Amino acid sequence: MPYTVPKLTDFSAAALDSAARELLSALEQESASVSSETDWKAYRDRWMARKNGIVTQINDLWLKASPKEAKREVGQKVNFIREEIEHAVACAQSDVERKIISQSVTLASGSLDEIREWELNRERLDITLPGIRRPIGAEHPVIKTMNEMIGVFRNLGYSVEEGPEIETDFYNFEALNFPPNHPARDTQDTLFLAGQDAKPLRDRLLLRTHTSPVQIRTMQKMKPPVRVVCPGKVHRNDALDATHSPIFHQIEGLAVDTNITFCDLKGTLDHAMKAMFGSSVRTRFYPSFFPFTEPSADVQISCIFCDGKGTRDGASCRNCKASGWIELLGCGMVDPNVYGFVDYDATKVSGFAFGMGVERIAILKYGVDDIQLFFSGDVRFLEQFG
Ligand code: PHE
Repeated sequence: MPYTVPKLTDFSAAALDSAARELLSALEQESASVSSETDWKAYRDRWMARKNGIVTQINDLWLKASPKEAKREVGQKVNFIREEIEHAVACAQSDVERKIISQSVTLASGSLDEIREWELNRERLDITLPGIRRPIGAEHPVIKTMNEMIGVFRNLGYSVEEGPEIETDFYNFEALNFPPNHPARDTQDTLFLAGQDAKPLRDRLLLRTHTSPVQIRTMQKMKPPVRVVCPGKVHRNDALDATHSPIFHQIEGLAVDTNITFCDLKGTLDHAMKAMFGSSVRTRFYPSFFPFTEPSADVQISCIFCDGKGTRDGASCRNCKASGWIELLGCGMVDPNVYGFVDYDATKVSGFAFGMGVERIAILKYGVDDIQLFFSGDVRFLEQFG
């Protein structure tokens, strides 16, 4: 009968001693019958496996079950036994190792065939067994798209600037030439922090609705020439649906220098769109309005699904609503009023700015049909980008 750990009812020193003696003698006996590596592993697990090894059992059946007044003594005994078990298992291991070495020495003096067989046995490897796969993490598709886009601009000499997600009204609106109560503010459903009515409007805190405030922060801290991209998270009070999320990401761009023209803006964005979507993509600049750029434009790219034709496989293209164009970003020449807020001389410098939604680009690039997939944390979706 193999040894089993008894439940203790009597926790007196004498009873404890006798239980311990019984256990230690079983430990010694079993150690003596360990003669191979496999034996040793079984021995180790029987005594030390974390889940139900004997060490765990005496912890549960003896120590945890002991009455308060006996706890201290039982604890000491259990600790002692545990050390004995660890010691016995370690000794059994070195005994087995010694045995293997001495066996190989004996074999070395035996015939070549014997030796070959003994090694073959020891190193047998079943290559048909499934391998051990260690799942490695991967960039989230939104971050991946963001980094790709940043890479395109880094190659053009742009550096990266970041700004806070909690902004003041001043940076998010006022310095970007949105006057108080101007209707343009309505296009950006803003989440304000509550309870700030006592503060002047420009100091009130809000969740930034775009990355454009980083333009202002950048121009406040550096003089032209400026070439930066500003990636980050933005928030709008939008209800969720397949194409809207109250949290999304943007990449802002800003270039200010002497003699920067709309041609530079067109060339830069045309290059960036080709780098991102392939060299056959065409761009179109469509008049638009932003308070902080003048003139302003929306940039459209030729539809990457129907190649700008508006039809695909004889049916009208759903992705561009048969127009052949997909709207992708906003841009324009920095409005001279903005320079006034950052102490740049509007008569000496000129520049352009642009802002694009990262999820929108990722949706197009990867053919994703629901923006919520990016935020649901479903590993089956995310794994496809690994
Ligand atoms: N900030 C604008 C938006 O979120 C986009 C934009 C950025 C437009 C820079 C022009 C220049 O809608």
